[in-house]
Amino acid sequence: MTAAIIDGKIIAADLRARVAQEVARVQRDHALTPGLAVVLVGSDPASEVYVRSKAKQTRAAGMASFEHALPADVAEADLLALVARLNADPAVHGILVQLPLPKSIDSQKVIAAIDPAKDVDGLNPFNAGRLASGFNALTPCTPLGCIILTKTVHASLEGMNAIVIGRSNLVGRPLVQLLLNENATVTIAHSRSRDLPQLCRQADLVYAAVGRPEMVRGDWIKPGAVVIDVGINRIPGADGKNRLVGDVAYDEALQVAGAITPVPGGVGQMTVACLLVNTVRAACAIKGLPAPAV
Ligand code: GUN
Repeated sequence: MTAAIIDGKIIAADLRARVAQEVARVQRDHALTPGLAVVLVGSDPASEVYVRSKAKQTRAAGMASFEHALPADVAEADLLALVARLNADPAVHGILVQLPLPKSIDSQKVIAAIDPAKDVDGLNPFNAGRLASGFNALTPCTPLGCIILTKTVHASLEGMNAIVIGRSNLVGRPLVQLLLNENATVTIAHSRSRDLPQLCRQADLVYAAVGRPEMVRGDWIKPGAVVIDVGINRIPGADGKNRLVGDVAYDEALQVAGAITPVPGGVGQMTVACLLVNTVRAACAIKGLPAPAV
């Protein structure tokens, strides 16, 4: 039997619809229009695509979108000044500075300058620390999406063995914390882990977030496991054009797993949807309203 395919496209569309409902409600009842500011530095083509998609989906959910494009050679002080203006702007409830930033800019400094209440990426050390301490926090969007996808298969993750392969601040580390909050037993694997295939075979839930095309093989997967593939890698295809693959050898894993996310059409769709979730949550918190129903 082949794995069930977890359709990120449908699940993300459903989530966006629920965000739009909550936005309409806070607008009607509290005259609040949640606003998201996205800052793009330079002209990385992949980043431009993401930023455009974020702005479009923000408006489609009924929120205000503020886009700021800065040249690649912008001075760090000017970027910090823009962040300070957005921190002070009452129409802005969420601030996202698209990563990666040019090497001339200290990303950590910029992220730390974002008001934690508006940090819809959840990357500010204040939010990362709160999450790691088990407190309520704005949480990075991709890990949040991974948990939502997993819960479409298993309503409770309690007591399950999860493996997170990759330990980035953007995905691996916050995902570990979210899984702990769900009472899963979590193994954190990375490039120095010994016998990764054997570690992986113990896992009921596999999260691959390393950025290495098709690294996780079918015989690493425990039969029936849920496989969430965070990787987005462009590799040359047989026809000479680039094709998009994940960190999991999909065709192999499909034969063994209980459920699996495709690439594209899996996790990628969820990241922007969760950004909208975080923005409406941030707007309500800033206004002192109860947390939205999403
Ligand atoms: N670049 C790739 N993914 C992300 C993300 O989730 N947030 C930000 N800020 N930049 C990214």
